[in-house]
Amino acid sequence: MLDLVGENYALLSVAAACGLYTLYRKYSRISISDVPGPESKTFLLGHSKELLLDDCGTTEAKFRQRYGDVVRVKAALGEDILWIADHKAIKHILHKSGYDYPKPPGDKPLRAMVTDQGLAWADGEMHRRYKKILLPAFGIPEAKEFLPVFTHVVTRLADRWTNELAEKDSTGIINVADGLMRVTLDAIGFGTWSSSAFDHDFGAVTESEDPLMKSYTHLMTVFAAPSPGRLIFRGVSRFVPPSWLSFLYEHTSSPDIQRLRDNRHQVHTFAAGLIEFKRKAIEQGKGQRDIMSLLLKANASAKDDAKLRDDEIIPQMRTIMFAAHETTAITIAWGLYELAKHPDTQARLREEIMETRRKIKARGETEFTTNDFDAMPYMNAVMKETLRLHPVVADIPRYSAKDDVLPLANPITTRSGKVIHELPIPQGLRLTLSIYAYQTNENLWGEDALVFDPDRWLEERDKAGALIGVYSNLLSFSAGVKNCIGWRLALVQIQASLVQLVSTLNFALPDEPQDVRMFRTVTVVPKVAGREHEGIQLPLKVSLL
Ligand code: HEM
Repeated sequence: MLDLVGENYALLSVAAACGLYTLYRKYSRISISDVPGPESKTFLLGHSKELLLDDCGTTEAKFRQRYGDVVRVKAALGEDILWIADHKAIKHILHKSGYDYPKPPGDKPLRAMVTDQGLAWADGEMHRRYKKILLPAFGIPEAKEFLPVFTHVVTRLADRWTNELAEKDSTGIINVADGLMRVTLDAIGFGTWSSSAFDHDFGAVTESEDPLMKSYTHLMTVFAAPSPGRLIFRGVSRFVPPSWLSFLYEHTSSPDIQRLRDNRHQVHTFAAGLIEFKRKAIEQGKGQRDIMSLLLKANASAKDDAKLRDDEIIPQMRTIMFAAHETTAITIAWGLYELAKHPDTQARLREEIMETRRKIKARGETEFTTNDFDAMPYMNAVMKETLRLHPVVADIPRYSAKDDVLPLANPITTRSGKVIHELPIPQGLRLTLSIYAYQTNENLWGEDALVFDPDRWLEERDKAGALIGVYSNLLSFSAGVKNCIGWRLALVQIQASLVQLVSTLNFALPDEPQDVRMFRTVTVVPKVAGREHEGIQLPLKVSLL
């Protein structure tokens, strides 16, 4: 069996054939070769290494400084891809073009290993059908109903950290990212007592040995720091029929792919049992308001040709579990990191939380509601600023399904010296939409775009950015037909976590300085320079208040 990470002669021969084919394609259709961009040092790898291995922020700054907001870069085997930070072009691709810019087909077999052929994988008619059935579970009222679950799981974490610190003179170094990933996994799994994502308590915070929980732990790191062999394999894979790639992924002995297969087995076994249980509960009028029950209800009342089969429902569950947990956890972790770096901001946030707590007490209640969250401008400013400066999905890969012309907000000067305001692009071009570059563009967000400053959201500067995205001109949840379905849920969970954690604990940078990297996996995760092999790490000095 072909080893995914190995470089061997067969791979190089295939690579050479692919290179010839690339040259043929390049000179026989619309070309982007006149778009400015860095020269590639190697044909085999192109700029894949920089794009995937450099920290988030490094490549983006280099590209924007030297070439502007639209850059031609080389992927493996000489493939031209277009890197885009221009907001008008991004808006055109995400908002205005419907399904004309799907995910790159060459990536789909691997993506199917991660999420099955669920909502995130699907495009076109299949996607429209899935989204229609799923949407009723993700409205504003539904997101609000999750608050007790989110409060419960994050309180469990705060209690656990409090107990740990009580044994250590009230202060200690804690890898907050690890605890938060457990919280968000529990949030998805928890809920025998209330409205919840799925009726299951993973016990992740309490460190149970649940096999489903274990199969999710650090799953996204499977995609961290690909070896040169794997980068070339990715380049070659766009010439390989998807069914061959799927076959390969089903049979390869690569430990990473085996982990994905194990996760799929765990989720399928678990979800299949749950569907029957939930369906019976709905028939008996005892249906709950968790995502699966809402999905089953919406499905039951859909027209026959729109209904999802069970083998289409389970992939949605796997997709949601994957898409929901690490993204939210890592966003909260970056938020705590910024608060640790900015003690004044943390103190101001804590004061607002305490003030709101007093109001809640005065009205005779004990728990925050989502209305309380809405009435906390500074907390929301901290959350928005975290989402802006730390978009955990930093790039969105797309593919042009047909020839098109991209409108540009800023004209570009081509290598041959022409100034163009729109860019013709060929069918079959891969594009990387840079969310990070858009959200740190000083022309849109001001000279201090790289500075963490929640006040920008409270002043006139909150009108910054382009009119884009589902939330506050941010692209953190993407935009258009394929935007994040869970964004409202994510916001409530971030708010609940900030309130609970900042009101019980203090977060500071460790006394010994650490170089925290914005490391690219599927999400941009924190890792400590020199200790990357230890996985996702965000060590903070945490103290009891
Ligand atoms: C801070 C947390 C989150 C962030 C930053 C985030 C970000 C994103 C982004 C950028 C996309 C588009 C990806 C692409 O097109 O390549 C996406 C899609 C998606 N997200 Fe989220 N997400 C978050 C939380 C959640 C949650 C909590 C859920 C579910 C409960 C969720 C479910 C999904 C699903 C199902 C998709 C695919 C949507 C589609 O293709 O139509 N996400 N998310």
